[in-house]
Amino acid sequence: MSTAVVIRDPKAYVTPDVWEREVALLLRNPENTRELADAKFGQAIAYLVTCGENPDLLMGPSEQVDEAWHSFMLDSIPYHHFTSRHFGRYIHHVPELPGTTAGVQCVSDDKAKQDGHDRKSGGPLVLEQTIKAIKAAGFEIDADSVESKPRRTVNAKGETTWLNWTQYADHGPNESVLGPVAGRRVLELGSGSGGNLAHLVTLGATGQGVDIAPARETVARERWGNLPGLEFRTAEATAFLKETDETFDVVLSIFGAVWFVDPDTLLPLIRSRMAPGGILAFSHLPPGSQGPKPAKAGLRHDRTPDEWARILTGHGFSDVCVSLIDPPEGRYAGTMLVCALAA
Ligand SMILES: C[S@@+](CC[C@H](N)C(=O)[O-])C[C@H]1O[C@@H](n2cnc3c(N)ncnc32)[C@H](O)[C@@H]1O
Repeated sequence: MSTAVVIRDPKAYVTPDVWEREVALLLRNPENTRELADAKFGQAIAYLVTCGENPDLLMGPSEQVDEAWHSFMLDSIPYHHFTSRHFGRYIHHVPELPGTTAGVQCVSDDKAKQDGHDRKSGGPLVLEQTIKAIKAAGFEIDADSVESKPRRTVNAKGETTWLNWTQYADHGPNESVLGPVAGRRVLELGSGSGGNLAHLVTLGATGQGVDIAPARETVARERWGNLPGLEFRTAEATAFLKETDETFDVVLSIFGAVWFVDPDTLLPLIRSRMAPGGILAFSHLPPGSQGPKPAKAGLRHDRTPDEWARILTGHGFSDVCVSLIDPPEGRYAGTMLVCALAA
């Protein structure tokens, strides 16, 4: 005898108006298509319903669900109605402070101080357990919007390591923008999971990756820890630059710290740790393509080519070169790539 499986529909938990509004808010991020925004919001509802119905279960969201949850929570009137109507209480969100114990996500008040990190991976608490719980609660899991895709072993050209300046796979110029890197000391500010820096090290550079998020260091070490001449460290970029006595020939930041920190603070610090003639290169979204800031994002410093030229030359850089990389067909936002030499 077979048992019918009842699939719950996230759309049943908010009114159509609220659904449309929350999807529209997610669409302020130019990287979200309508389909992706629907999927992210639906998965966030499935996550929150599972949290709400299992107050004792320790759960943590994927990055994509967290984006939709942030956006929903900041739209506080419908978020408050949603949590109080379905669960009779507020569902808290406990953000993580770098260097401190993370709070458990999405629990009742008395648990908000427990460690929210999986001790082994450093990632959000037991994503696997969370996915199991959401499935057990009767929701479908959208793999693209919830589970991190495994890293590709090769890119479209069949290379096992590569550098990508853009937000799209297999798109835009490669590391040649930096000139030859063999024998050069490279610093990446906001190194994420480390693939770009690892590629430069395979070409003969030595690399120091710095990222504010402890989980990024864990992932980068797991992936690239066996490469000699490559180190990763958890630190905020300005704090690292103030404290290090090293000098670097190449500094790069791909949608990284240069995008997130006030350039008048960060650039003098970068310049002070660069060898004369060294190259600084960074990428971010072109100005105007962000639309209103996505709820999750902090302030991001998109500047025009003229602004970058002025700011960089004012902080001891020369030969500023700004290029705009068009997006792939069918995508909206391009990428701005900025290079300059330490004068
Ligand atoms: C969009 S990710 C890009 C990661 C990587 N550069 C890549 O291309 O895959 C931005 C990274 O910058 C890091 N980040 C943001 N602000 C930072 C700061 N002030 N200092 C160090 N890292 C920072 C974040 O933790 C995140 O890993």
